[in-house]
Amino acid sequence: MEEVRVCLRREEDLSYDIRVGPGQLDRVADDLAARPVAARYLVLTDATVGELYAGELRRQLVERGLCAGYVEVRPGEESKSLAVLERVLSQMLAQRVDRGDCLLAVGGGVVGDLGGFAAGCYMRGIPFAQVPTTLLSQVDSSVGGKTAVNLPGAKNACGLFHQPARVYADVRALATLPEFELRSGLAEVVKYALIADEGFAAYLEENARSLLALEDEAATRTVAACCSLKAGVVERDERESGPRMILNYGHTIGHALEDISSYGLSHGEAVAYGMRCMSRLAGMTGMLSPSDQARHDRLLNAFGLATRPLDLDVDRVLAATATDKKARGGVLRLVVPTALGRVEVRDDVDRHLLRRAVAETLADPA
Ligand code: NAD
Ligand code: GLY
Repeated sequence: MEEVRVCLRREEDLSYDIRVGPGQLDRVADDLAARPVAARYLVLTDATVGELYAGELRRQLVERGLCAGYVEVRPGEESKSLAVLERVLSQMLAQRVDRGDCLLAVGGGVVGDLGGFAAGCYMRGIPFAQVPTTLLSQVDSSVGGKTAVNLPGAKNACGLFHQPARVYADVRALATLPEFELRSGLAEVVKYALIADEGFAAYLEENARSLLALEDEAATRTVAACCSLKAGVVERDERESGPRMILNYGHTIGHALEDISSYGLSHGEAVAYGMRCMSRLAGMTGMLSPSDQARHDRLLNAFGLATRPLDLDVDRVLAATATDKKARGGVLRLVVPTALGRVEVRDDVDRHLLRRAVAETLADPA
């Protein structure tokens, strides 16, 4: 027998900048010309964002000789599929995108997740950059390098980690976002405050109106604060072996509600119900003080999140948590608040108390 060792040690600097502010969209082409991450850029977008923003960005890139092509997909979660991924890759090939080029994903989390995955596997990996245009994508999906498409019945089941090389978040793009989508992103904003930063929670309490009105300063400060909080978590645990799990606060019950609800809940709104369930559970067990529990729930109220009762069967909700990605060996792992701005991952939660917390929250959330 002979044994050959392949010695590979990888140390890479994957650091990147996220630029946040009003009017960023109009500066992307100039900035990429001044501080390139690749020779040329293929724009991937969806039809809605294409008409609003990405078509103009493409024009600006063409004007500077920086455009490698343009691919548009249908808006919506259905575009996060292997079939659409194949179509995107084929179009990249047809447009002669090469390894010196970069995929520029312009749109919400769907385009970002699909584009990041396409870039991660096209010719074994080309760089990608993001111009997130929904609040959810600006505060969450454009940071941290998770990319994926869905398999039938299994969300995000096929993907890879591929960090973007640059992110440009234009808070003025949020002005055209439908209310339903804005609210979905607001729940993720509130989540960051509740899991990691009491000071940010206080800022949101004081500035809820300005943020809801999407005033430049409040929106910029909020998006930047969320990106910074998420960056802090991702820097400690890029591959989600532990600490990154706290970003899933509210998501175990939230995903279950999304799965079984016929109410058309947005992802964020479902997560907001999930966060309310966790604060109620923590209140019941004494992990969270009554005053912190009240502040937790008031912050959700300030943004009108998860305030109406949901007529859903609690046992169906709990059954739907069985597929939660955080579960290990059939044991449910829950992110539970212990103070405002602090959470713990627990796998010893009493199922009866959880059932009571969920039942009470669905019947009387706010
Ligand atoms: P989305 O990308 O589907 O966008 C929502 C809708 O808003 C779409 O119809 C889109 O065309 C439209 N839109 C986008 N920007 C607009 C604008 N400025 N004005 C008007 N309309 C606009 O949804 P999303 O909520 O941004 O992202 C959801 C996806 O993100 C999910 O697939 C989820 O799994 C993923 N996600 C990924 C991560 C991650 O870490 N990678 C984190 C959270 C969520
Ligand atoms: N949205 C959860 C994460 O990025 O880990």
